[in-house]
Amino acid sequence: MSNNISSILQENRNFFPSKKFKKQANITEQIYQQMLLKAEKNNVGFWADLAKEKLTWAKDFTVDLDDSKAPFYRWFTDGKLNASYNCIDRHLTDKSDKLAIIFEHDDGKVDQYTYKELHDEVCRFANALTTQGIEKGDRVIIYMPMIPQAIFAMQACARVGAIHSVVFAGFSSASLRDRIESAGAKMIITTNVSIRGGKTILVKKSVDEALEGGGNSVCKVIVYARTDYKIAMQDKRDIYWHDVVAGMSNYHDAVMVESEHPLFLLYTSGSTGKPKGVQHSTGGYLLNAHLTNEWVFDLKDDDVFWCTADVGWITGHTYVVYGPLSMGATIVIFEGVPTYPSAGRFWEICQNHAVSVFYTAPTAIRALMKFGDNLPKQYDLSKLRLLGTVGEPINPEAWIWYYKVIGNESCPIVDTWWQTETGAVMIAPLPGITTMKPGSCTKPLPGIDAKIVDEKGNVLDNGEGGILVIEKPWPSMIRNVWGDEQRYIDAYFKQFANKYYVVGDSAHIDAEGNFWILGRIDDVLNVSGHRLGTMEIESALVSHQLVAEAAVVGKPHEIKGESVFAFVVLNIDIPSGEKREILMQDLKKHVAKEIGAIAKPDEIRIGINLPKTRSGKIMRRLLRTIAKGEEITTDTSTLEDESILKQLQKTPETF
Ligand code: PRX
Repeated sequence: MSNNISSILQENRNFFPSKKFKKQANITEQIYQQMLLKAEKNNVGFWADLAKEKLTWAKDFTVDLDDSKAPFYRWFTDGKLNASYNCIDRHLTDKSDKLAIIFEHDDGKVDQYTYKELHDEVCRFANALTTQGIEKGDRVIIYMPMIPQAIFAMQACARVGAIHSVVFAGFSSASLRDRIESAGAKMIITTNVSIRGGKTILVKKSVDEALEGGGNSVCKVIVYARTDYKIAMQDKRDIYWHDVVAGMSNYHDAVMVESEHPLFLLYTSGSTGKPKGVQHSTGGYLLNAHLTNEWVFDLKDDDVFWCTADVGWITGHTYVVYGPLSMGATIVIFEGVPTYPSAGRFWEICQNHAVSVFYTAPTAIRALMKFGDNLPKQYDLSKLRLLGTVGEPINPEAWIWYYKVIGNESCPIVDTWWQTETGAVMIAPLPGITTMKPGSCTKPLPGIDAKIVDEKGNVLDNGEGGILVIEKPWPSMIRNVWGDEQRYIDAYFKQFANKYYVVGDSAHIDAEGNFWILGRIDDVLNVSGHRLGTMEIESALVSHQLVAEAAVVGKPHEIKGESVFAFVVLNIDIPSGEKREILMQDLKKHVAKEIGAIAKPDEIRIGINLPKTRSGKIMRRLLRTIAKGEEITTDTSTLEDESILKQLQKTPETF
């Protein structure tokens, strides 16, 4: 296959949607051209008309965009709506018995919820939240695995006007504590345990650890009993889900909020400091979530959409919960892991639930590709009609495998570029019309004003690599870094004096106008499609009692995209042999405990010092070269002490 791929790259082969797909696509060439024209003429009006057409408003808006305090943009400002009402209630007239959620447990058991059942579950829980003292604007942390109750909890928060912040249940208690503190959360919704790959994981225990010692804003912890596993419950603070919903009405009048009312916060890594609480709005966010499901995922009434992302990430917010539900679609959610009980699990789920639209990350595709072509072929994947990828650039080899083996050369692949901050897909093929190129996310969606600029902000010609920016504001853009306006400006707008939203990626545009994302330009790693700040991992390492200094870089990894490679300086003599091995393991465990297993370094090198310039700046460029095991050929004369490099190049075997 590799030979095949390189020749494909040389030929720069194009892939076209089939006639059959084109014919039924939501966005045809004609509609696309009309949209482009309209967005070009009046970008704000383009979005405002769509907001009126696609969302249900309790109070219509008259202000399309308020940019008087740019870059703090406000969309559809005087309108009122409720996100949960838009995701559930408005479908009840014609889709009450339609399946909303198909939930596959880790052990293969399946639960299903119609829109009416979803409505009842969400309303009961919304009433319970109110009874427990949750009001509009309160922050609620959701720390749960991929089970329907996580969706009920998100929808119930939206329904009462509370601001949810979902924290990925794989994050450690220390990460959870930071987020609780930053959000000033009043409540945590969690589970006693989660079940993944046949294992029981103690979820509530992490919540207890995060809240240990008190002094936080949390008054209540609601615990969904996923199994009958017994856990400690703290009197007055902790209460079971089944107890809070007991006797609650399945009627709840959704609280209509201002369009700009924050729907949720989602914490993401930045290059400096603690994770940023990305604040999203209600109206603007929901609009792009809805539209991109219609445009990019081409959702139809009879589709079964499976986005494999966890609700702890933005992809889970926009393409599991808010987008598909706002369209009245049927979604699949899965509690387990792709390789349990066998590496055919994903394909078995696609077969058993007749999944028609499937969206996952390149890291999962690469991992499953390793098991060969025969495994997916054992399953009936004939219902699939559209495939998607997200999170990092997809290598052409994985793209082709996905296209041929999973999609049987008949499903378009939408390589969707976006971020936690953009709220929804920004650059991606429109599957009925776009010519696909493996490795390119192709073109910005109508209304999205993406550009490549140089360091001075000049727009570059096609072919030149540069900084990816978005000039015009768009409805689902980040509104603020929770509680820190200065950080919002510094992180996204300062570089070009508010002229552009600065993405943090580098990219180039080819002669045909297709975007190719090259990677991050800040000190952020992309491990398995998830952003990790090098700074956070370094802080975690330095918090170990034996570590004096740490520097973390990314190393290209076959499956994960990038792996975490750490260089540390100890405050003791460097131990040797078995002692060093034990310390390395301990450091890895320490990072997992401080941040979560996802951030655990794959490799650690212990040095007597780190390569620094005379002004004390760590030269990461050199560390990246060392991590890759390559020779340093660039100039190192600015280094304070060149001999450090030799020592850091020593692998444990040569130490
Ligand atoms: O570097 C880009 C990469 O992931 C970053 C956003 O990460 P996060 O906020 O965690 O959201 C991931 C899911 C939306 C981007 O700045 N990225 C995301 N999608 C792609 C991508 N890089 C290349 N191609 C993509 N399709």
